[in-house]
Amino acid sequence: MRVVIATDAVDLARRASDHIAGLIVQSAGPRVTLGLAGGSTPRATYRELRAAQVDWSRVDLWLSDERWVAPDHEDSNERMAREELLDYVPAVFHGIPWREGRPPLAAAEEYAWTLETILGDHQDIVVLGMGDDGHTASLFPGTAALTETDADYVANLVPGRGWRLTATIPLLHRSRHTVFLVSGEGKADVLARVLGGERLPSAVVAEGAGDVVWLIDEAAASRLDRS
Ligand code: 6PG
Repeated sequence: MRVVIATDAVDLARRASDHIAGLIVQSAGPRVTLGLAGGSTPRATYRELRAAQVDWSRVDLWLSDERWVAPDHEDSNERMAREELLDYVPAVFHGIPWREGRPPLAAAEEYAWTLETILGDHQDIVVLGMGDDGHTASLFPGTAALTETDADYVANLVPGRGWRLTATIPLLHRSRHTVFLVSGEGKADVLARVLGGERLPSAVVAEGAGDVVWLIDEAAASRLDRS
């Protein structure tokens, strides 16, 4: 596991874009898969990736988690990814099969099947964020999805946030390359706890995922024991 400290959020986005683009270019085989994080932190990185020297036509993009809302809803991770990246690159995007009135569990099962067809037994690259409670994707502390050991993608009812659809630990542990993006003073405390060994969801994912790189900025790193 590596920790790379960027000067600020702008530097973080540039470094993250360079790292992710490098992983795509180095990836062998005709196609490469890239799991996208949601939330707000990745926005700047995805904007930088628009100009990356990458053959996007060989890239399959998927979502490491999604809120259970329509894809044009302001809270949708798909909408965010579309605004920042998907509308600018010729990658193939695999979105959550949301339909009005559909049970989220059914959509999660369908998406798990879709991912099985594009990811095979190991996905290449996954980008993840981290919340100030240590969650990643939609694996929130104390929620059922954290203990899922069979399904690769599930619906998870998160207190105060409603239904989420999320990759599970078994799926995230099959990533060859894992990139955590963490920015801002607000994440400094939880980042120090996670990197210090507290087994919050992000730590549990990181301990079993492949080639984990924490790309953080100085503000998020401010509570780390640099020794
Ligand atoms: C989501 C994300 C989630 C996110 C963290 C951090 O759907 O919200 O996938 O795991 O990465 O909550 O969010 P910010 O980047 O907005 O701080």
